[in-house]
Amino acid sequence: MGAIKIAENVHWVGVRDPQLRKFDIIMNTRYGTTYNAYLIRGEKTALIDASKAAFTGQFLDNIREIIPPSQIDYLVVNHTEPDHSGAITALLKENPQIELLCSGAAIPFVKNVINLERPIRGVKDNEILDLGGKKLRFLLTPYMHWPDTMMEFLEEDGILFSCDGFAAHISDDSLFAETIDKDVDFEFHYYWDAIMRPFSNYIRKNLVKLEGLNIQMIAPSHGPVFRENPRRYIERYKEWTADKAAGRNLVTVFYASSYGNTKLLGERIGAGLLNQGFELSYCDAENFEPEKVREAIEASRGVLLGTPTMNGDAVKPIWDIINLFSTVSSVGKKAAVFGSFGWGGEGIKLVADRLSGLKLKVFEENLRVRLVPSDFELNDIAAYCSRLAAFLNS
Ligand code: FEO
Repeated sequence: MGAIKIAENVHWVGVRDPQLRKFDIIMNTRYGTTYNAYLIRGEKTALIDASKAAFTGQFLDNIREIIPPSQIDYLVVNHTEPDHSGAITALLKENPQIELLCSGAAIPFVKNVINLERPIRGVKDNEILDLGGKKLRFLLTPYMHWPDTMMEFLEEDGILFSCDGFAAHISDDSLFAETIDKDVDFEFHYYWDAIMRPFSNYIRKNLVKLEGLNIQMIAPSHGPVFRENPRRYIERYKEWTADKAAGRNLVTVFYASSYGNTKLLGERIGAGLLNQGFELSYCDAENFEPEKVREAIEASRGVLLGTPTMNGDAVKPIWDIINLFSTVSSVGKKAAVFGSFGWGGEGIKLVADRLSGLKLKVFEENLRVRLVPSDFELNDIAAYCSRLAAFLNS
């Protein structure tokens, strides 16, 4: 399967990887994937993205169906993850004169990909590259998927080259979504959920940049090209990346408790926060459903984690919940940690440190109680909650 025309003088020159069953370690890819690249010919020629290194031969062959690689003027590097950048070095061997264009954030990454001295130019947001008859507008869209990520809008044809944004892992004989006999909508959502969801706060801002564009087609870096109602796919991203905590005052208490003491602390903290005007939700970590936990994290203004300490560590169900934080938009969220313990209570600090490492804002005061909370300790929780409420509201 070779190059495919998607508009006048615009060709898909990517490759298919139908056998791939895991992407980036974290994602199942039952239909494989594609590494999409696009060749745009005006008076000058631009190539948007490259390919995974293992597919370099096919990638170069597809380009050769349209023009010799030596005639490419620009390589637009939208993103330096190796599924798109792996073939750059081979392309530069074929054509050492290609000018490399990328976001400023991508420049050090590109250098570490090619390990060659080559001029690399960082483009500006909304800068236009005039190819002569085709104008490419650069849109810097950080964190869709990496901080380096950018997109282009081809003004004459209304094509948005969206890199990992609006992608789906599907390899099919057909390139266009409306002609693919697979559940494109499901894979489109699954890709967003696995790859894009942690960056929702950034994506929300990036989507604003697409509002004024007359988009006729979305050409992402993986899977189908969308040419029927492309705005529908942008609207879905808007819906999925909406701020779920906005307009709410929810605090979710995740806890694990062997003998009920940590649970009691969680309930008393919750009652104290209720008095401070918060909405409360509780989750027993021994019986959690991952998707509900992910939704709760996103919907909460703050999260509390309560753990006992066993063998110098927090308990596994709490770590299992913490492992879900990096799969959603949790950076900057407020958190606090509490727990009952018998000997050293190390688990509480380990959890607080881990949440800080995940870039949550963690209340500096961990609430720790040895074994059974006394009436005095329980009464003290009201004052703790006042300080915690001030932190959550700050
Ligand atoms: Fe398709 Fe983030 O690389």
